[in-house]
Amino acid sequence: MCGIIGYVGENGGDTAVVDVLMDGLSGLEYRGYDSAGIAVAEPSIAVRKREGDISALEEALHGGKLDGTAGIGHTRWSTHGPPSDVNAHPHTDDETRVAVVHNGIIENYRALRDELEAVGYRFESETDTEVVPHLIAAGLEDGLGCEAAFRQAVARLEGSYAIAAVFAGSETVYAARHESPLVLGIGEDGHYLASDVPAFIQYTDRVIYLDDGEFARITPETVTVTDDAGTVVETSVETIEWDADDAGKSGYDHYMLKEIHEQPTAVRQCLRERVEELERSIAVDSLASLSTPERVQFVACGTSYHAALYGARLLRERGVAATAFLASEYDTDVVPVDSETLVIGVTQSGETADTMGALRGANTVGARTVAVTNVVGSSAARECDHVMYVRAGPEIGVAATKTFVSQQIALVLVASALTGEYDSQLVSALRDFSGQLQTVLDESAAQEVATAYRDAGAYFFIGRGHNAPVALEGALKMKEITYKHAEGFAAGELKHGPLALVTDETPVFALVTAGSKPTKTLGNVKEVQTRGAPVVAVTDGCSDVEQYADHVLEIPETHPTLAPILANVQLQLVSYWVAHELGRSIDKPRNLAKSVTVE
Ligand code: G6P
Repeated sequence: MCGIIGYVGENGGDTAVVDVLMDGLSGLEYRGYDSAGIAVAEPSIAVRKREGDISALEEALHGGKLDGTAGIGHTRWSTHGPPSDVNAHPHTDDETRVAVVHNGIIENYRALRDELEAVGYRFESETDTEVVPHLIAAGLEDGLGCEAAFRQAVARLEGSYAIAAVFAGSETVYAARHESPLVLGIGEDGHYLASDVPAFIQYTDRVIYLDDGEFARITPETVTVTDDAGTVVETSVETIEWDADDAGKSGYDHYMLKEIHEQPTAVRQCLRERVEELERSIAVDSLASLSTPERVQFVACGTSYHAALYGARLLRERGVAATAFLASEYDTDVVPVDSETLVIGVTQSGETADTMGALRGANTVGARTVAVTNVVGSSAARECDHVMYVRAGPEIGVAATKTFVSQQIALVLVASALTGEYDSQLVSALRDFSGQLQTVLDESAAQEVATAYRDAGAYFFIGRGHNAPVALEGALKMKEITYKHAEGFAAGELKHGPLALVTDETPVFALVTAGSKPTKTLGNVKEVQTRGAPVVAVTDGCSDVEQYADHVLEIPETHPTLAPILANVQLQLVSYWVAHELGRSIDKPRNLAKSVTVE
């Protein structure tokens, strides 16, 4: 989804603003985008924007230097109007007095545009965003100052937005936030604002998270946050715990591969100070005040939904009525939800619009809410009653990997903490788990399997119990980064339809691990093998599936609850290597975005 960067200051040299903006756009690439642009103000506004990736914008900059001390930049993920130079942000008013970038959707843009066109404002793009600079211009023409015109324009908007604006001849960047993320960076040589911290982490790790309804004004010397009435808001400066190296590729070809290899560390971080073997306790500080809930509803999207399915099952095993909902399908009008219900949003980014919508709906009807998220200070973290951070560190690859593993481990802890259950075998398995992940990474035969099946027509993934969500996740990963047809099923469902698609050109990945009904899944393996399908077994050796499989991806023996998490790593690696062999854009798959901030 769209990314915003803004900067004011003197970061070493007269082209510094452009450099900071371009670095910022690179740091936001992971969000997914199809065009990019920047505007630098002072003395007059200069805009460069291009369809395509940042290298196209870089070429456009070769034509001439952009001077100034204030600027904004944007990576666009199209919603209103296709990717094009004209639709790319920033957008300006007719006389280029103001330039604006926007993330989100302005729902009443049609009415605003009609109103503005009726009084003579000319629109160039098909975007919803372009109403904003014209509304601001209208305020300026009415005699308002820059800030008042900006506020007046924002007050007219309905929908979701993070907006930043610069004015010709001004050293100030103005911003506003409503249901789209915005974070301010406090640097030595200037101030920053962005959709996410990776945009400016190389310059500063000191941040202020804006809340919904807040406005920010940054100048080279000052940062001011106000509410919608203009009253100054007290803010706290937080320090980010990771640095620019953590957000880099560290020598790996792709962020995704690096992040897959970071999983042992991610798991250690997630467990830190939460599992106390001596005291026989699993505790999550932020959830300490919660008693065992009567009912738990998980809301999540994409990969996080698969983690939520796993989490719901963990709670059901412990006697709690728990269900996982796709956040976009969660509707408090039809789902029984009340103050006895705990609604847990599982969201890597903490910004996914559908998940936030579901959590807000749950809040409105009086449910208690928990965010299980990776991003400190994200909307989910700030709006829920409780937050548990999964502590995976920054994840840049669009396809979620280490955050999925961290979410699963976090949900093991949540299920134990909420029910007060202490399973010493599970705890000892958790202690060894990082090392076992490392073993899978070191010894995986996934690359050979990928080479063998890179040209397959389709891929199927099957598993039962805790392996069922991992089968769904295996298929999702394969689709996302290889662009090939892949489907995941609860293994028992195979014969109720999907079996019709199974041929000798459709490898079937079977997750066969102890505790997840291996004998029954073995039966399904035989069914597909009889139809000529190649079988890849991902197994801990709990059955004789090896005899029926064309390839085996081994995982070490662990607690049955955790085996699917190890199995998933093998599937991540297979997808990665298939995508690699096919030359796909692994970190930025076509049409996808890391953080989906529109419904
Ligand atoms: C996008 C990403 C997925 C992610 C989903 C939910 O679709 O590409 O990788 O699983 O959003 O994101 P969240 O941040 O809420 O976990």
